[in-house]
Amino acid sequence: MSSRTAYWNSRYQRGRIWGDDPCRSALLANDYFKRYHVRNVLVPGCGYGRNSFYFALQGFDVTAFDISDMAINQAVEYANSQSVKNIHYEVGDIFDQRFFQEKKFDGVYLSNVIHLFLKTERQNLMDRISSLLKPKGVFAFSCISIYDSNNYGIGNEIEPNTFIKHEGKPLHFFDEQEIKTLLQPHYRILDQRLHVQTESDPNGDSEDLQLWFVAAEKLW
Ligand SMILES: C[S@@+](CC[C@H](N)C(=O)[O-])C[C@H]1O[C@@H](n2cnc3c(N)ncnc32)[C@H](O)[C@@H]1O
Repeated sequence: MSSRTAYWNSRYQRGRIWGDDPCRSALLANDYFKRYHVRNVLVPGCGYGRNSFYFALQGFDVTAFDISDMAINQAVEYANSQSVKNIHYEVGDIFDQRFFQEKKFDGVYLSNVIHLFLKTERQNLMDRISSLLKPKGVFAFSCISIYDSNNYGIGNEIEPNTFIKHEGKPLHFFDEQEIKTLLQPHYRILDQRLHVQTESDPNGDSEDLQLWFVAAEKLW
């Protein structure tokens, strides 16, 4: 088992740690998916499925996966308990090229995943997402911003705007320009805005995160 899987399994051992409600960015993404006639949605790094489940309820045909088998077990159990059929879950690593080799999607939604990686991996992740998205498909994502004053600047800065607050877990904080650069030249940005997401954990602690929401159309 990779150290990344072990880390996330240990987090999810405590159950549905951020609750059942979808993220605000999922609600925003839903509007764009509908506006751009998206029918099937891929949710990489879906965790225990709070957002993929919501997309299924919205009528999309959903495929979701995560590197944590513990999270996927919880996600499958929850979808079955609610008799929701239009979600397909898998355990997998977004960087594994063999994964979904043949399949392309109308929409991809990525919640709070891209900021977990260093620069080279972020670029690899973007390449992977582009390879999984159809031309004219919609990529919607959320990530932490440099305006998150609760977390920005805490720990060792190992790359520009990337800090190690918890051992082995880099956190990269995006500014406006970096998001534009990340999406060039293959995407047209439809929306890029800051929003606050309140995450509550099982200890009863809650934290307001200052996140970006971005929706972009793949041009070719
Ligand atoms: C901050 S959590 C967000 C979970 C989910 N998107 C949500 O908002 O509820 C990051 C997720 O990314 C997953 N992850 C990390 N690296 C991954 C990889 N290489 N491939 C697939 N999933 C990964 C973790 O297991 C974890 O569930």
